[in-house]
Parts: sequence; structure tokens; C-alpha cells
Amino acid sequence: MVSAVDAAIAWRNDRIICIDQTVLPHEVRHMNITTVDELIDAIVRLAIRGAPMLGAAGALGVVLAAVQAERSGWSGERLRTEIDRIRQARPTAVNLEWGVKAVLPALSRGIVAAETTALETIERIGAANREIGNHGSAYLMTLRDGPLRVQTHCNTGALACVEWGTALGVIRSLHERDRLAHVIVNETRPLLQGSRLTCWELAQLGIEHQLVPDGAGPFVLAQGLVDAVVVGADRIAANGDVANKIGTYGLALAAHRERIPFLVAAPESTIDRATPTGASIPVERRSESEITHVAGYRVAPENTRALNFAFDITPWDLITAIVTERRIITDDLRGAASGTWGRRPA
Ligand code: MRU
Repeated sequence: MVSAVDAAIAWRNDRIICIDQTVLPHEVRHMNITTVDELIDAIVRLAIRGAPMLGAAGALGVVLAAVQAERSGWSGERLRTEIDRIRQARPTAVNLEWGVKAVLPALSRGIVAAETTALETIERIGAANREIGNHGSAYLMTLRDGPLRVQTHCNTGALACVEWGTALGVIRSLHERDRLAHVIVNETRPLLQGSRLTCWELAQLGIEHQLVPDGAGPFVLAQGLVDAVVVGADRIAANGDVANKIGTYGLALAAHRERIPFLVAAPESTIDRATPTGASIPVERRSESEITHVAGYRVAPENTRALNFAFDITPWDLITAIVTERRIITDDLRGAASGTWGRRPA
């Protein structure tokens, strides 16, 4: 049994078992994924989503493809093609490719070696989240005395991260330390990861929260109702620009205007030194119907065209700090691709 807030993905009997995130909060449905096509379908329709979780899916995807290759008698070339299809299933979160690359070298030693490496990779993802939570909460607690009111965007909890969470992990760590007042959750149009998933996770954890429409996010900040904004990331360029769920940039602009700390919480695996700035990050564009329809119901006139960027880029100078499992990166220490930026948390 995979528990929702403890470990949202597992490998059992040559299959990936995970929660179908598209049917939450109405139903906790577990999927049994046995083929590459099923895995790609789950990633594309966001049944499996969130950057670290995509890393886990990439890692297990290599094992799944190898098992299917053995079962179906695929050639080595076919296996490589199928693994490449997994790697490319979604373009923005660099973690998907990272997860594939973490396991690929072990595959030359056989399926068991690949499986062991994949499971170790997933454990590392979980452990990193705990550290991000520790560092991020410690950093926020230095900014102000007493319980903090935190705003977040999209879903960055166990569902998105295997366990604990990144931005939501920071929030959970604050809660654990009795330093969290409550959470303002942006609903996250168009697929509602905030309302469907984050509110569901927070409710399970007994953390007080309020849902706001995305458009209200900046006004909530201007009303003085928030002490810090904490979000996740899908890819961090070498200069510190951050790709995250569409709507993040607007929230960062507002936080900057209102002088409210804006934290990005992400594992080191989300930092892509090969991408110099946000301008070179591939931003996924999804189907127009995700905007023109809500839960299958048309909410725009027939033939209305829509522009559906799944992510946006927040320039580094709007970000107060990037918190990873190893360090806290602040703009005074940002040394771009030198590999030396950031300091170790105290
Ligand atoms: O399209 P999604 O739901 O995969 O987008 C997810 C996000 O943008 C998250 O904020 C990001 O992956 C960080 S998850 C810890």
C-alpha cells in the first residue's frame, strides 16, 4: 500500500505503483504501470507530476523499459529508443532526464543493478527533501519571530516529490517546529494543483490553510497577510533564473514590490548548469482545451483560442533565496555557473 503523504511512488513486482494525481481529491486511485506507453501516458496527462517525482519516474522508467524489453524481446536499439521517449515525455522539469541518466549506466550490469540504482536514487530524492525542509525552515525562522504566514503556488508536497516535499516540505518543517501560522494556497489554474493536491495534502497533515484564486495572490501579499512566499522549481538555470508553474513570475513580482521574501525550494538535481539563463529553458505548452474547459465543461465560446504555457520563468533578481539540500543560495553569493555559488547552511 502506498500512503499518500509518505511515499507516493513505489516499485513492486516489475511495475510502478503510484497515485493517479488527476482524480484527487475525489478519489485516491493507485495505478499499476507495466509498460513504457502507460508510463509516458501517465506523465503526459499529469497523473505523475512534479519535478522530483518526475525524476523518480525517469529512474524507475529505465527499469520498467528493461523489464519490458526482456519480456518482449526488444533489440538494444529499441530499448534505447523507448528510454529516450520516457526522457522526453515532458520538457521543462530537468529532473526527468536526471532520473533517467542516474540509472542508465547501471543498466549495462543488468536489470537487478538498474533496479537497485533506481531505488537508491528515489531514496536520495526523499532524503534531499527532508534537508530542504530543514534548511528552508531554519532560514525563514531567522527572518521573523513567531509563527509565519506562508503563501505557496502549485503542488510541491509528497505527491510531487516522492515524500515530504520541497516548498511544502519547508512548510511542513515550519509546522513541525511550531513556527507556522497558516498557509495561503494559490489554486493554480488551469489544472488546479494548488486546490486539488496541495489543499488535500495540507488537510491530511492537519495544517491550517486557505485557498485563493491565482489572481488574488498579489493582492493577498499587498494586504500584509503573508510573511514569506515559498515555491518549488522545475529547472533552475546556471544564473539562478527559475522555471516553475505558470503564475510564479507574477507572484514573485508582487512579492518584490511588497518586500516579502520569495524563496525557491528545490533539490540540487533541479539546477541545470548546462542551461545558462531562463531564456534557454524549454517551456512546455499544453493543450488549449485545458484553458477553454474546466472539468470537461466548456467555459469559453466555441473556437476560442487559448495560450497554455504550463510554466513561466522568474528572473533570479526577484528571488530572495534558493534553498537546496546542500545550501542556501542568495543573490549576493550568486556566482553563476562557476559551481561555487551558495553557502552551506549554518
Ligand atoms: O505541471 P506540474 O504539475 O508538473 O508542475 C509542477 C510544478 O510546477 C512544481 O511547482 C514543481 O515541479 C516543483 S515540485 C516540487
